[in-house]
Amino acid sequence: MADSMVDQALLETWNRRHAEAEDLGRVATVVEQNLHLVKPGVQALDLACGRGATALYMAAAGLDVTAWDLSPVAIQRLELAAAEQGLSIRTAVRDVIAAPPEPASFDLVLVSYFLERSLAPAIARALRPGGLLFYQTFSRAAVSDEGPRSEQYRLGDNELLDLFAMLKVRVYREERCLGDTSRGWRDLAMLVAERV
Ligand SMILES: C[S@@+](CC[C@H](N)C(=O)[O-])C[C@H]1O[C@@H](n2cnc3c(N)ncnc32)[C@H](O)[C@@H]1O
Repeated sequence: MADSMVDQALLETWNRRHAEAEDLGRVATVVEQNLHLVKPGVQALDLACGRGATALYMAAAGLDVTAWDLSPVAIQRLELAAAEQGLSIRTAVRDVIAAPPEPASFDLVLVSYFLERSLAPAIARALRPGGLLFYQTFSRAAVSDEGPRSEQYRLGDNELLDLFAMLKVRVYREERCLGDTSRGWRDLAMLVAERV
């Protein structure tokens, strides 16, 4: 009972944020910078896709995209944008914690700005052999106050590497507060890792 009340409150919060947002969000840098590592046509999942900016970007790049989110408002906005842009994306309103992806079901799984640590094994298993995980979210080490305040929703030092130690690292970036903090890619960590 208590759990479902919490979930309902979470859902309402996300629905409101997605309804109020002016745009579809930002394309994840980890995808913009590394999508050349996959061949066109591969099956990609955007897990907790939000309003779908990155799902749309991957579909426009020729990937076969599936996008899931808890929020029906987010999924509706993504579906509308996909129709306007003439793109085909398989969408679903889905609680990915209650219903994670099936084992060996995707060639690419993208997770951006969603951190549920208990899902890491299921996300890694969802990749087919040779498949790639693309992950990007906020780190605790940060130079701005962007992103969630709670440490629970921010990554510790090298944490993506630890969470996905079962995969082979292909790209990793986490600049923390080193050097000239007015430059670089700050407040975030990204990982591209392969299931071999
Ligand atoms: C910070 S947003 C990130 C959205 C998108 N990935 C992006 O980069 O813009 C987090 C998303 O996670 C979704 N979410 C939260 N809990 C979820 C769950 N259990 N299952 C699926 N989606 C969930 C929210 O609705 C929200 O769209």
